[in-house]
Amino acid sequence: AGFPILDASINGDGATSSQENPIKRSDFPPGFLFGAATSAYQVEGAYLEDGKSVSNWDEFCHSKGCGENGENGDVADNHYHLFMKDIEIMHSLGINAYRFSISWARILPRGRFGEVNPLGIMFYNKIIDNLVLKGIEPFVTIHHDDFPQELEDRYGSWLDSQMQDDFVHFAETCFNSFGDRVKYWITINEPNLVAEMAYEKGSYPPNHCSQPFGSCLAGNSDVEPLYVMHNMLLAHGKAAKLYHEKYQSKQGGMIGLVAHCFMYEPFTDSELDREAAERAMIFNIGWSFDPPIFGDYPQEMREYHGNELPRFSPEEKEFMRTSIDFIGINHYSAIYAKDCTNSSCLETANRAIKGFVEYTGERDCVLIGDPTSMPRFFVVPRGMEEIVDYFTTRYNNTPMFVTENGYSSPDVQDVPVEEILNDVKRIEFHQAYLASLAQSISNGADVRGYFIWSLMDNYEWTFGYNVRFGLHYVDRQTFDRIPKSSARWYQDFLGNNDLID
Ligand code: NOJ
Repeated sequence: AGFPILDASINGDGATSSQENPIKRSDFPPGFLFGAATSAYQVEGAYLEDGKSVSNWDEFCHSKGCGENGENGDVADNHYHLFMKDIEIMHSLGINAYRFSISWARILPRGRFGEVNPLGIMFYNKIIDNLVLKGIEPFVTIHHDDFPQELEDRYGSWLDSQMQDDFVHFAETCFNSFGDRVKYWITINEPNLVAEMAYEKGSYPPNHCSQPFGSCLAGNSDVEPLYVMHNMLLAHGKAAKLYHEKYQSKQGGMIGLVAHCFMYEPFTDSELDREAAERAMIFNIGWSFDPPIFGDYPQEMREYHGNELPRFSPEEKEFMRTSIDFIGINHYSAIYAKDCTNSSCLETANRAIKGFVEYTGERDCVLIGDPTSMPRFFVVPRGMEEIVDYFTTRYNNTPMFVTENGYSSPDVQDVPVEEILNDVKRIEFHQAYLASLAQSISNGADVRGYFIWSLMDNYEWTFGYNVRFGLHYVDRQTFDRIPKSSARWYQDFLGNNDLID
């Protein structure tokens, strides 16, 4: 009912090569996890219900009106009340894993300065129990951008090392409450992006930026992203140490970290641009994963930043270096990297935190790939194989999961619902990216799962509700979840022939 007829070519008779020989589930290893992902602030809503406190995003959106047209996540997809329906949708898709995050302010409204909120714990228990009942692996992100505002007000959240203690307390609360059923933990989502967006660009709370614009607050963007990342990495490392020492043998799970992972390609073939692309990889990927795998920041970053880059003590290096069981890759796009060590960088006043590299999606008036609704996201399927190969080599084939990959159409305003539902481009996107991923697996990469961002359209941080990554459309009045063509495609791909409606 109301489901658009899927263009037959998508199932294999079409003209493009990915359609002639579409990727199949059997192209992936047995036991591979195929899932969908969400995060608490983006879907839950119920922002002050059942004991939840105000989070940093609640505060930010209420005081600044953060999304387009002042939208925010107060109600979001009303998943707090509709989670059973959402688990049904997952079951009909046939996914065997669901990645979601825990709202810190829901289970610890005052961080470590107050009690655990039993109603918050009960909410996630219900989700986890019902997932397990349906044979869907809960893949839990402990921290995905939102935390109790009190931690910002008291000591400045991630700028202060006290946040590490609060995070460890939060993580332990999660291991204790959910670890009997949760076997995959992600400590923190995209610390590298949060450091940049919140402390350099000023578009995420607490809104610090290099050059005040709009309502953004002047921070010290030369160093704040570096300190924030350091605290996040140590918070990860300490929580992982605790998990490894106290919980892992009892609970038998894995713990990892997720970063925002673009593939950077040289803008020209010049030596300088090739070095810039390599540097861009190191200042993003290396910044995020060298400490939890090798125990320290990349040497190249130390050369650029000197003493401004924080240091790990010998004891910290020791526990950091064994702090992940898997790498989580959020991959959407590739972009050109252009050297600007000898010229001024255009994007922001300070490019030191990026190694003096400028990014651009365009070369000789040609885009690197089809545009999407996100400013720097282009459709470049080869990037998936390239980035997985990069990880495989740099980190000696540490187990990997693609924890996010997804497509949002460039048309964001006034699009008729029928058009949104008939999302052929999203299907092509996933087919092409999966084919590229399968190639990296046949090159030998130890990739164990793939999650589509997102299960359903949701609140996209500073962009609001018009940017849609979902397999399902969410009616903003009724909160009905309506499957898009891509939901049907995923269902077919996963070999699940039950009808979704
Ligand atoms: C990464 C983030 O983890 C998620 O919250 C966001 O919605 C998607 N990328 C799309 O931008």
